[in-house]
Order: sequence, then structure tokens, then C-alpha cells
Amino acid sequence: MMKALLCHMTTLAATAILAASCGPSTGTDSLATRQAQSASTSLGCTEKCHNASSTISPDPLKTNGTGTAGKHIEHVQERGISCEVCHSGYYYTPTHMNGVLDTGNQMVNLVSMDLVGPAGSWEKTAGRCSGVACHGTAILEWYGMNTWTTPVCITCHTSGFSSALDPVVTNGTPPAGRHEKHMTARGIACERCHDQYPTRLTHMNGKMDAVDPMVNLMQFAIVANAGSWINDNGVMTGQCANISCHGTDTLSWYGNSTWTLPAVCTTCHAASYASELDPLVTNGSSTTGKHEKHVVGYNYACSKCHLNYPTRTSHGNGVLDTQDPSLHLILFDATSPTGTWVNDTGARAGACSLVSCHGAYSGTFTYYSIGGDGSNVENNVPYAGNIGAMPGWYSTTGLGCSDCHGNPPTIPNSTQKYAWHSGSHANNLFAGSNDCQLCHPNAVGPNGIGTAITDTTLHVNGTPNVQVQWDSHNCSCHF
Ligand code: HEC
Ligand code: HEC
Ligand code: HEC
Ligand code: HEC
Ligand code: HEC
Ligand code: HEC
Ligand code: HEC
Repeated sequence: MMKALLCHMTTLAATAILAASCGPSTGTDSLATRQAQSASTSLGCTEKCHNASSTISPDPLKTNGTGTAGKHIEHVQERGISCEVCHSGYYYTPTHMNGVLDTGNQMVNLVSMDLVGPAGSWEKTAGRCSGVACHGTAILEWYGMNTWTTPVCITCHTSGFSSALDPVVTNGTPPAGRHEKHMTARGIACERCHDQYPTRLTHMNGKMDAVDPMVNLMQFAIVANAGSWINDNGVMTGQCANISCHGTDTLSWYGNSTWTLPAVCTTCHAASYASELDPLVTNGSSTTGKHEKHVVGYNYACSKCHLNYPTRTSHGNGVLDTQDPSLHLILFDATSPTGTWVNDTGARAGACSLVSCHGAYSGTFTYYSIGGDGSNVENNVPYAGNIGAMPGWYSTTGLGCSDCHGNPPTIPNSTQKYAWHSGSHANNLFAGSNDCQLCHPNAVGPNGIGTAITDTTLHVNGTPNVQVQWDSHNCSCHF
């Protein structure tokens, strides 16, 4: 590597010496003319001298361009990093524009960093940079073929490395900004708001761009509505508009404004807002899921299965968690205290276990009969559903009448049935004496076998609804 460099220097030196205009001579390219031009204009290094048309001032893109020769092309041309970031103050040093090319002279240091974050150091002899903010803790050779991959954001953007780069410090809590709220409190990844940041030219160019409204730091990578960053007029202004995490609300990043999550889930979770968020579209029926059946068919509130969802940190973080089995979307409300979500191995897998709706129910039914002395006698009988039923949310088949409870039910822990479910109730003395609808207002089925639900509001509502169609006191069978 140093060999290539030295070789290179020899060529350079020769070029400089051959350029007759260098030194005391006159002409457009003479040192005197160049110095005069530099002083009288505000042009940058390239426009003034260090360009391809100059004979005396080396064009670093050519003399020290790429690969083992140097890395000017990567930094200056491909990333647009200005000369002053690495050659800070060099313009004014006595060794500059003195007619002698100092590259290779160990006594002269050409490199001095001026950038946001740790300046690190230029190790002249080894020809490498170490601890420079743009590269984090990495040590990188200027002359060599080493490649570099940008590490994860918080390698550099943490106070442990540099508080000047830690957005929680520089842009953390209101009125300064809302990194604290989104990153620390909610764990939202940088990429959700600064998508593909490291590959942008404005990143790691030594200059912090937050205050420059011309440079847009914001690019969203969020489920549905990527949304936009608007009204950025300069220092500490700007708003997020139509970001799915906030629904239709437009929110200021700076200032003391507060935000409350809309109370109604379907403000965001409806196709009219974003079909990607509508569970009836993405997770609707049969193998895609069973929202249709529960939300439309049974009119269940979202909170029945997604209890306290919006207060969970994994909600509204820009990433849909359904495919990740370690993140449980399901928490049942008080009507299913023992219910759990099980067998979730990843995409489109999982089942509900021990939920009351699917048979994990039991209780005691109380009814009165007339005793021998004519008084009311209280009778208590136990009942229970198929406690172990575990219907798959993504199964192809729906559930039959005997999946959550017997059809008709048996006495718990027995194969026997109570008289009313026996199939020979009233000895079939009258038509319909064993039809479900005789005693249940919400289901029908002939001859002791149920076939359909006629009123979903009364089915799976937590109580066995029994309502005989005649008053037992007036009935010849039940005195
Ligand atoms: C990312 C940092 C960086 C930037 C940006 C940068 N340089 Fe350099 N430059 C260096 C390093 C490192 C060297 C090599 C120093 C050494 O070998 O001692 C160097 C060397 C040079 C040399 C000596 C050339 C040679 O062939 O030996 C010149 C002239 C120079 N730079 C000019 C510029 C100019 C003009 C710009 C802007 C257009 C610029 N540099 C931008 C880091 C940078
Ligand atoms: C919820 C969205 C969001 C997330 C997540 C987020 N940022 Fe930002 N970031 C912003 C906004 C908005 C700004 C201000 C933009 C402006 O003022 O032009 C910003 C500004 C910055 C700035 C400039 C700081 C300053 O003081 O001006 C840095 C650096 C930054 N973010 C880094 C990060 C890093 C690193 C992460 C992850 C660890 C991250 N951000 C996560 C939204 C976000
Ligand atoms: C190797 C160190 C390093 C890594 C890794 C890094 N950054 Fe930066 N970032 C910087 C430095 C240094 C700055 C200071 C301003 C500059 O040089 O452009 C910066 C500035 C920023 C800014 C402010 C705007 C700007 O360009 O000035 C944002 C936003 C940002 N980084 C986001 C990210 C995100 C998002 C990631 C991860 C995907 C990330 N950075 C990874 C070093 C890094
Ligand atoms: C009967 C229980 C139940 C009800 C009620 C319910 N969900 Fe779900 N929801 C689930 C299950 C189960 C999943 C899939 C979980 C998995 O695969 O990890 C799910 C997944 C989701 C998903 C992710 C969708 C996808 O395609 O990945 C969203 C969003 C969602 N539900 C929102 C809602 C909203 C909004 C409501 C109310 C309108 C609602 N859910 C009502 C059980 C329910
Ligand atoms: C302000 C908009 C908004 C509201 C209101 C909202 N959500 Fe969400 N929800 C989202 C977004 C955006 C996603 C996409 C994934 C993410 O960002 O976490 C999501 C995802 C989900 C998921 C899928 C799992 C996940 O976190 O990725 C479930 C379940 C869910 N929401 C349930 C609810 C329930 C229940 C309510 C009402 C109590 C509700 N949401 C209210 C925006 C909202
Ligand atoms: C003659 C009246 C009568 C008829 C006919 C009847 N039931 Fe019932 N049913 C009851 C009574 C009383 C209870 C409450 C006591 C119990 O659980 O056995 C009940 C409770 C139930 C329960 C909830 C409690 C449990 O044991 O799981 C289910 C399910 C049920 N019946 C299904 C049916 C089906 C299906 C039919 C039609 C095939 C039917 N019943 C016909 C009287 C009847
Ligand atoms: C997803 C589970 C499930 C399926 C499938 C199911 N049931 Fe039920 N059923 C229940 C639960 C739970 C109860 C307990 C009482 C309650 O909560 O309403 C019940 C109770 C009943 C009752 C007692 C009256 C009442 O609703 O309180 C009847 C009758 C009944 N079911 C008939 C049927 C018939 C007929 C079918 C098939 C068309 C059927 N069930 C399918 C869960 C189910």
C-alpha cells in the first residue's frame, strides 16, 4: 500500500516540477495568480485550484483517487463530502501553496477533521482513519482495498459513542423533539422514520442536516400509508401527516402538543382508511383467519381478543407483528379469563385454547319443580362445555355444533344426558318435544339434534339461554 503511494508521489512530484508555471513564474496557472484568485473569490478548493485543468495543484480525484491510490472518489465524488471536512484549516497553513508538494512528507499533516461527532485521528504513517464519527469505531485504511459496511444505527447514534450524534440528547424530548417518546419508550426502529438513511448522500458527510429544510431526513417505512413529513421551515419545525401510526391526524414533532390514540379501533383498522390495516381484508375468513366470523358474524368488540392492545409497545410501531410468534397479539378480556393463544409457530398458525366461547365454560343451572306437598323444590344441575376444544384460527373448516359442546350436551363427566337433552324428552308425545327451539330461543334443530343458530346475540353470550315456550305451571307434563 505504501509502495503504491510512494510511486504515486514520485509521479506527482515530477508533474509539479515540470509545471514551469509553479513558483515565481507568471501566467494564468502560476502560483501567484492562483493565490490572488483564491483571496479575491469565495470559490471552493476545487473551483479555485484542485481540478483536472490545473497543472500545479493536484486534482485529488486523479492523483489520490480510489482503491490503493486513496479514497477521494468515494468521499468527494460519490458522497459529496466537502474538502474542509478532512482538510480543516489547511488552506491557511504555511505549508499550503508554498510551491512544495508535501504529500509523503512525514513532518506535514495534511489531514485534520472538522465534522459533527468525534474527529477521531488520522494515523499518517499507517495511512488510516480511526474513530472518526463517519465510521464509528472502525479503523479504515485510506490506501488499501478494505471494504466497509455501515454498522447498525446505534453504533454511532448513542451517547456511549458521541452525545453529539445521539438523537435522544440532541432531539430528545419536547419541545426539542420526540425521539425519546418513539425510540426509548416505544422501541420504534430508526428505519421506520429514516428509511435507507445510511445510503443517502447527505448522511455521514460531516454536517448535521436536521436544521436544513432542503435536506429531508424523513422517509417512512411503515405498514400502510407511508405518510409524509411536511411544514419543515428550518430549525425545529415539521409535522408528520397521514402516518398510519397516527391515523389521519397531523402531528407536530416539535413543541408540547400531545396526542391521544383514537378510541375507536376502526378509525385506522378499516379499509376506508387503509386496507393493509383492515383485519377483515388481511385476516378475514377460512385459512386467512376468522375475523369475518367473529367481528361481523358475532359483532365482537376488538378488545374481546386484543385487550389493551393500543397501550402495548408493539402496537403502532410501523411493523405488523402477526408473523412473529414471539409477539402475542391475543389477550382475552374478562369473559375468557383462562383463554390463551397457543401453537403459534409463525405465519398463519395458532389456536385459541380454554376460551369460554369455545367450550371452556361450566356452571350450575337452577330450576324449580313442584314437590309432593305442592311446594317449589329447587334443583341445581351442573353443566359444562367441551373444555379442551382448541379451534385453529387459520383452519380450513369451520366448527360444527358438537365442537364446543355436545349436540345435545351430556351431563358433565358422563355419557348420560339430562331428560331435556335425552332425545326422548316427553317421550316424543307431541311434535317438536325434542327440538332445540322448544326450550332455546336462539337455536333450532329437529329430533334432538341441533342444526342452526337463529340468534347470534344470545349464543355464546356467557349464559345458557333457556326459555321454554309454555308456562310450566299450565303444562300438563310439569305440574
Ligand atoms: C474524507 C476525507 C477527505 C476529503 C473529503 C478530502 N480529502 Fe484530500 N486527502 C485526504 C487524505 C486522507 C489524504 C491523504 C493524506 C496523506 O496521504 O497524508 C488526502 C490528500 C489530499 C491531497 C494530496 C494529494 C495527493 O495525491 O497526495 C490533496 C491535494 C487533497 N487531498 C485535496 C483535497 C481536496 C481539494 C478535496 C476536496 C475536493 C479533498 N482533498 C477532500 C482526505 C480527504
Ligand atoms: C418516529 C420517527 C423517528 C424515529 C423512530 C427516529 N427518528 Fe430521528 N428524527 C425524526 C424526526 C422527525 C427528526 C427531525 C427532523 C427535522 O427536524 O428535520 C429526526 C432527527 C434525527 C437526527 C438529527 C438530530 C438533531 O438533533 O437534529 C438524528 C441524528 C436522528 N434523527 C437519528 C435517529 C436515529 C439514530 C434513530 C434510531 C435510533 C432515530 N433517529 C429514530 C424522527 C424519528
Ligand atoms: C458509522 C457511524 C454511523 C452510523 C452507523 C449511522 N450514522 Fe447517522 N450519522 C452519523 C454521523 C457522523 C452523523 C452526523 C451528520 C453527518 O455527518 O451527516 C449522522 C447523522 C444522521 C442523521 C441526521 C441527518 C444528517 O445526515 O446530518 C440521521 C437522521 C441519521 N444519521 C440517521 C441514521 C440512521 C437511521 C442510521 C442507521 C440506519 C444511522 N444514521 C447510522 C454516523 C452514523
Ligand atoms: C375473536 C377474537 C378476535 C377479535 C374479536 C378480533 N381479532 Fe384481530 N386477531 C385475532 C387473531 C387470532 C389474530 C391473528 C393472530 C396471529 O396470527 O398471530 C388477529 C389479528 C389481527 C390483526 C393482524 C392482521 C394481519 O393480517 O396480520 C389485526 C390488525 C387485528 N387483528 C385487528 C383487529 C381489530 C381492529 C379488531 C376489531 C375490529 C379485531 N382484530 C378483532 C383475533 C381477534
Ligand atoms: C391511530 C391508528 C390506530 C388505531 C386507532 C388502532 N390501531 Fe391497531 N394498528 C395500527 C397500525 C399502524 C398497525 C400496523 C402495525 C404497527 O404499526 O404496529 C396496527 C396493528 C394492529 C394489530 C396487529 C399487531 C401489530 O401490532 O402489528 C392489532 C392486533 C391491532 N392493531 C389492534 C388494535 C386495536 C384492538 C385497536 C383499538 C383498541 C387499535 N389497534 C387501534 C394503527 C392503529
Ligand atoms: C326440553 C328443553 C330443552 C331442549 C329441547 C333442549 N335443551 Fe338445551 N338446555 C335445556 C336446559 C334446561 C339447559 C340448562 C341445563 C343444562 O345445561 O343442561 C340447557 C342447556 C343447553 C346448553 C348449555 C349448557 C351445556 O350443557 O352445555 C346447550 C349447549 C344446549 N342446551 C344445547 C341444546 C341443543 C343443541 C338442543 C337441541 C338439540 C337442546 N339443547 C334442546 C333445555 C333444553
Ligand atoms: C364456537 C363454539 C360453539 C359452537 C361451534 C356452537 N356453540 Fe352452541 N354454545 C356455545 C357456548 C359457549 C354456549 C354456552 C352458553 C353461552 O355462552 O351462550 C353455547 C350454548 C348453546 C345453546 C344453549 C342456548 C344458549 O345459546 O345459551 C344452544 C341451544 C346451542 N349452543 C346450540 C348450538 C348449535 C345448534 C350449534 C351449531 C349450529 C352450536 N351451538 C355451535 C358455543 C358454541
